[in-house]
Amino acid sequence: MKKITLLFLLISILSCKKKESKEVVIIESKRGNQSEMAALMLKMYDKSLENKQLVLEGKEPKEFPQEFLNIHTAQLTDAAVRNSQFNAFSDFYLDSFKKVFETSKDSLIVRHNNAVNSCITCHKTTCIGPIPKIKKLLIK
Ligand code: HEC
Repeated sequence: MKKITLLFLLISILSCKKKESKEVVIIESKRGNQSEMAALMLKMYDKSLENKQLVLEGKEPKEFPQEFLNIHTAQLTDAAVRNSQFNAFSDFYLDSFKKVFETSKDSLIVRHNNAVNSCITCHKTTCIGPIPKIKKLLIK
């Protein structure tokens, strides 16, 4: 059992280095052992998907989830990823995402897409695997 968990952990680490493959995604979703950051990322993903739906219906997302501030502290699969560049990308994401919940001269669609693009900006340097999935959050 332990070996299997280790194998999944290894696959999940590799999945950040490789281009996304269907097999990896399937195995990953069955894995029980994920980092705090991976769990937070999945919540961030779900929230953006929810927001996309709202924005498409012409509704405004209501409340910025304070929990997302944990991007600065959540334990990573690979702790070495958190360097000054990563911290800057974290702030960039939080700033862009907060704007979705504020009044602005920019349209909601623009603000939503800016936030999603800030996810992609960080992922290009740290974890390219989920990028195709994140791109689906953009409103065309
Ligand atoms: C500051 C950099 C950064 C930002 C911003 C960021 N990510 Fe991530 N993301 C990561 C890293 C690093 C991981 C790998 C986490 C780990 O394995 O501990 C990750 C993992 C993921 C995963 C895979 C989770 C899993 O199943 O293991 C998804 C999906 C994801 N991010 C989506 C998003 C979305 C959606 C956004 C924006 C709403 C976002 N990310 C913003 C760095 C970032």
